[in-house]
Amino acid sequence: MTVAKRTFDAVIVGAGGAGLRAALQLSEAGLKTAVLTKVFPTRSHTVAAQGGVAASLGNSTEDNWHWHMYDTVKGSDWLGDQDAIEFMCRKANEVVVELEHYGMPFDRTDNGKIYQRPFGGHSQNYGQSPVSRSCAAADRTGHAMLHALYQRNVRANTQFFVEWIALDLIRDQDGDVVGVTALELETGEVSIFHAKATIFATGGAGRIFHSSTNAFINTGDGVGMAARAGIPLEDMEFWQFHPTGVAGAGVLITEGVRGEGGILRNAAGERFMERYAPNLKDLASRDVVSRSMVTEINEGRGCGPDKDHVLLDITHLSPETIMKRLPGIREISIQFAGVDPIKAPIPVVPTCHYQMGGIPTNYKGQVVVPKDGEPNAPVVGFYAAGECACASVHGANRLGTNSLLDLLVFGKSAGESVVEDIQSGNLSLKPLPADAADASLARISRLENQTGGESVAEVGNAMRRTMQKHAGVFRFNTLLKEGVTAILDVAERSKRTEIKDKSKVWNTARMEALELDNLIEVAKATMVSAEARKESRGAHVRDDAPDTAEFPNGRNDNEWLKHTLWYREGNRLDYKPVTMKPLSHDVEPIALAKRTY
Ligand code: FUM
Repeated sequence: MTVAKRTFDAVIVGAGGAGLRAALQLSEAGLKTAVLTKVFPTRSHTVAAQGGVAASLGNSTEDNWHWHMYDTVKGSDWLGDQDAIEFMCRKANEVVVELEHYGMPFDRTDNGKIYQRPFGGHSQNYGQSPVSRSCAAADRTGHAMLHALYQRNVRANTQFFVEWIALDLIRDQDGDVVGVTALELETGEVSIFHAKATIFATGGAGRIFHSSTNAFINTGDGVGMAARAGIPLEDMEFWQFHPTGVAGAGVLITEGVRGEGGILRNAAGERFMERYAPNLKDLASRDVVSRSMVTEINEGRGCGPDKDHVLLDITHLSPETIMKRLPGIREISIQFAGVDPIKAPIPVVPTCHYQMGGIPTNYKGQVVVPKDGEPNAPVVGFYAAGECACASVHGANRLGTNSLLDLLVFGKSAGESVVEDIQSGNLSLKPLPADAADASLARISRLENQTGGESVAEVGNAMRRTMQKHAGVFRFNTLLKEGVTAILDVAERSKRTEIKDKSKVWNTARMEALELDNLIEVAKATMVSAEARKESRGAHVRDDAPDTAEFPNGRNDNEWLKHTLWYREGNRLDYKPVTMKPLSHDVEPIALAKRTY
């Protein structure tokens, strides 16, 4: 197969919010920028973000970035790096106002300011009461954001390669990154994108789980490519289960519903969150609400004939409020649950939603790895932002609306770093290695030439069932141990996948097979890291780490206040320290404390 070569200043993989925000920075600086994307940019998964983007604008209630920083560190169960968290919270107002100036149609308050609503875990005055911090465009904030960013990129002449899947990261003999290989879906051709800088913005990998709010495109492509290229993956044991997926369908019902006053009820009609989080109640942090719901269901207080879900009630809100603030939710509820939420509550269950870990980066968006005794040494030419990256601002549990903020702040800062590195002469176009495309061509050849191999769909289903059973909302020592064996077995099977009906090979079938190669790396990293972390923290809660005076909520800071690094080679784990020091010398660190809401 011939391999064409295309050369750019920068190649960005992914056209969701992070990729588009990074691309804008580069194109507006005059750099020749390529964006590769599996789907048309405005169909990227950011489009599904509903409830808003966090910024302490203080338009509806008093607010400031110190409170936002405190909430984010506490939400992360102190696993988030405080330098990156300070950076993100301080930058929030700037990136949101920029979007407003790009024409993003935010909802408005009566006096014309950006409308803000409360969201889980966000508070005033260091946890005292809920704050309205989420800047929203009804319940379609991601949709509005993606369109504003895409249009701005068109104006800036960003070059899009639509319906292309990136295959592998290319590193040279020094370990520096010099581009990617990619396959065009229309023609099946493989090309090399040779660049001074490569930015991964490929989103999450929620499709490793059976029940997920994630789109089918969320297959961890960047994370898988990084792992195959020898980059360790950080904190992959931490997965967020969103409290309110439509029962049986998994489709997201925004936390903004509870922000607007929605209440979770059990079979007795009880507002059960009052027992678990007396202060913030239904607006406690997501991990807390999800566990409370599962506890209600496990203890027999679930709803419906099988007592397998709880109810999200907004029948007390006026129809006008629902139609104005939550129109999309009403549609989703009618279509997927058969319930008009104006008249009856919505059946909901916790559903996999967000990957807190990913490719390790610093707050500048540079990918960092341990090297020569330095835990965070930048990899030359390689940057990442958004859900595929771990900056780490979410630590063990992300707060709702900090995801859209993360992709804006770190998309922009990755873009700024590339511009600075290229313009200062720190980054130049390095030669490609002679074998640049060999690994990718070998993977494609395996799919086409293997006989008697495994079906992609069957191996994928085995992976999703394994993850759902062994690494869910609550985690059990025995199940985790069995889960490691099971997922390694699935991974072996994934090496033998083939396209079964070779007379009808469409590139979509090739793509699904190639995506499974990425998903399986994410699944292995998750299970192995989770089995090894012998404490409860944020979204990772184990049965053998009970809540005691010495270890509140099962958290063990003496041994486990550290980031996990999983290496594909040898399925090996390593650890590195959490940055407890904020970025600015005059900002006080948020001291360790028991997490209650
Ligand atoms: O509930 C939501 O609208 C989701 C927001 C988020 O994950 O940040």
